[in-house]
Amino acid sequence: PVQRVPVVASSDSLPELHAATNRCRDCPIGALATQAVPGEGPMYPALMFVGEQPGDQEDLRGRPFVGPAGQLFDRALAQAGIDRQAVFVTNSVRHFKYELRGKRRIHKTPTQLEADACRHWLDEEIALVQPRALVALGATAARALLGRPMAVMSERGQWFARADGLQVLVTVHPSSLLRLPPEQLPAAFERFARELAPGK
Ligand code: URA
Repeated sequence: PVQRVPVVASSDSLPELHAATNRCRDCPIGALATQAVPGEGPMYPALMFVGEQPGDQEDLRGRPFVGPAGQLFDRALAQAGIDRQAVFVTNSVRHFKYELRGKRRIHKTPTQLEADACRHWLDEEIALVQPRALVALGATAARALLGRPMAVMSERGQWFARADGLQVLVTVHPSSLLRLPPEQLPAAFERFARELAPGK
C-alpha cells in the first residue's frame, strides 16, 4: 500500500529538489529503481513537456526521454521546429516502475495511487521552473497536470486551463506511436509533430 506522508514544499533549487526526490519512498516504486530521474532544461521555458515515467534507459542514465520513446520524441520536436535544449522535459512519476521477466525489466504503468503520491514533485518542479505553458504527453501526464481523468484520444490537440492559470496542451505519449502497426506510423507521427508545435 502507498504510504501517505505529509508533503513538505521545500526545495529552493532543482538540485535540492532532485536530491529529495531520489530519497523518496512515498510509494513502493523508488526502492526498486536505480535512481530518480529529474526533469531537464532551462528555467522559464516557453514549454514544459511532461511524460509518464522514466523507462529502462532513463532509469540507468538518469535523464528523461533518452530511450526509444525519447528518440521518437526528439524527431517529432525537430520536425515541429522545437529545439529540445530550449524546452524543459520531465515526467509525472520520478522512478521507473517495472516487472522482471528473466533479465529484462518490463515497463509497468504506475497505479493512480503511485502517480498521486508522486505529483507533488512535479508541482514543485513546475513552481521552480516556471514554464509559460505545459504539454501533457499521454493520459498519466494529463491527469497529473489537470487533476482529473482525461480521454486523451478525443481531447488531444486541445488546450486546458489549470487552476493556477497555466495552460496545458494535451497530446498522446510518443510510446503509443511505437506500438502502432508500421503502416500507420508515418501519419501518426505527422499528427503528433503538428500537435507539438502549437501556433507554428
Ligand atoms: N517515457 C516517459 O514517459 N518518460 C521518459 O522519460 C521515457 C519514456
